[in-house]
Amino acid sequence: MASILVLNGSSRARGFTAAMIRSFAQGARQAGNTVQVLDLRTLDIHCCVGCLHGGADPAHPCTQRDDMARVYAAYRACDVVVLATPLFFWSYSGLLKNAFDRLWALAECEPDELHGNGRSGALLVAAGGAHPAQLLAHFDYLMLRMGWKNLGSAVLLHTDDLDASAVTDVPQARELGASIA
Ligand SMILES: Cc1cc2nc3c(=O)[nH]c(=O)nc-3n(C[C@H](O)[C@H](O)[C@H](O)COP(=O)(O)O)c2cc1C
Repeated sequence: MASILVLNGSSRARGFTAAMIRSFAQGARQAGNTVQVLDLRTLDIHCCVGCLHGGADPAHPCTQRDDMARVYAAYRACDVVVLATPLFFWSYSGLLKNAFDRLWALAECEPDELHGNGRSGALLVAAGGAHPAQLLAHFDYLMLRMGWKNLGSAVLLHTDDLDASAVTDVPQARELGASIA
């Protein structure tokens, strides 16, 4: 059983990314895992200021004090990090990238807190069109550099042609969740 943290980088509470997360969580919970979803749009998370002076106090990894404290706590308690994002300009949403940048402060406390440490990662992407390849390639590279086991990705394409309220199940996301043990 794994403790799974989903970082939801969508700006929309009832959008396609949220639908993917619901299916993923259903599959993951049925497989016996615990799932915590952090909706980044609801949190006050400032952008990294690049000071490189974090890590002085492990209780407050970053020099900034904001809702990133909740992400640090959830991150420290999890085995699996799921990056859930709409495809924005063929990349992660700013909400997600912003929070991920702030994880750097954990490495300033202790490199092994961020890198390796037995963690795994997975990716959920909702795309208006059909070209997520650059993001998928980046995610693979990110897993490599982070030393996290790559559990794979689920992609919902052509959302521009869909009604989010009609998407009640995303099988690929559900199966990805169910594959985690
Ligand atoms: C700022 C912005 C940039 C986008 N860039 C892309 C893109 O590069 N490729 C693409 O296929 N869709 C793009 N889209 C469409 C979103 O990926 C799509 O609407 C997605 O399903 C939104 O997810 P959500 O329902 O969780 O908000 C973009 C949408 C916005 C608002």
